Amino acid sequence: MNKRTVETNKDYWDEFYKSNFKHTPSQFCVCVLTEIDDQAVIVELGSGNGRDSLYFASQGHQTVALDLSTEAVNSCTEESIKRNVKHAHFIQADLTNQKEVSQAIGLARQKAAGQPIVFYSRFVMHSIDDEQEVLFLNTVADCLHSGERIYFEFRTKEDEKLDKHFGGHYRRYVDSEVFLKRLKDLNFVINYQHKGQGMAKYKEEDPVVIRVIAQKS
Ligand SMILES: C[S@@+](CC[C@H](N)C(=O)[O-])C[C@H]1O[C@@H](n2cnc3c(N)ncnc32)[C@H](O)[C@@H]1O
Repeated sequence: MNKRTVETNKDYWDEFYKSNFKHTPSQFCVCVLTEIDDQAVIVELGSGNGRDSLYFASQGHQTVALDLSTEAVNSCTEESIKRNVKHAHFIQADLTNQKEVSQAIGLARQKAAGQPIVFYSRFVMHSIDDEQEVLFLNTVADCLHSGERIYFEFRTKEDEKLDKHFGGHYRRYVDSEVFLKRLKDLNFVINYQHKGQGMAKYKEEDPVVIRVIAQKS
C-alpha cells in the first residue's frame, strides 16, 4: 500500500497485523509499570498486536485495550486464549469515535470497581491526523475523572528526517508544543514530559519521541 493517508489506516494496519510480531513489551510499557498502582486497571488506546496490554496483564493488571484494526484485535484475543489470560479484553474501536471510546472506558470502570484506572497510548498519536488528535483529546478530556492520568509516547516533528524501519503508511510528526498546549487547554496538568532519542530504539532506528504524563485536574 503506497497511499499514506489516514483513510487507508485500517486497511494498512489490518494487513500489517496479519503477520505475527514479537510480543516483547515496549520500553515505555515497562517504564510505566514500575510506577503505577498494583491494582490499577489499564486502558490502552491503540493497542496494536497487544504486546503492551498482554504484558500489563501478565503483571496482574486488568486491561481493556482498543484498536482500529480488526486483525489486530482478533489476534490479541487469540493470544489471550492461548495464554489463558482472562483479564485482558480487546475491543475493535475507533479512537475518534467518542461513543466507542467511552463504552470501552465504561467497561474498564466496571472492572475497576473503584480501583484506579491508568490510560495509556503508545505510538498512536503520530498514526492519526491532526483533526483526529483533536477529537481524541476532547474525548479523553470528557471521559477521564479528576486525578486520573494518561501516559503517551509518540514521534515528534524532530523525528521526521530520521531513517525508519517500517514505511508505506501514514505518519504525522507531532508538534509536541501544540499537543501539550491542547492538553493544558483541556484542563490537564503535565506531570512529566521528556523528548529525545534512546527511548524507543528499534533495530537501525532511534526515533525522537516524547513521553508525556498528563493528569486531569
Ligand atoms: C504504530 S502502531 C502502535 C501499536 C502499539 N501501541 C505498539 O506500541 O506496539 C499504531 C496503532 O494505532 C492504531 N490506530 C490508528 N488509528 C486508529 C484509530 N483511529 N483508532 C484506534 N486505533 C488506531 C493502529 O491500528 C495501530 O495498531
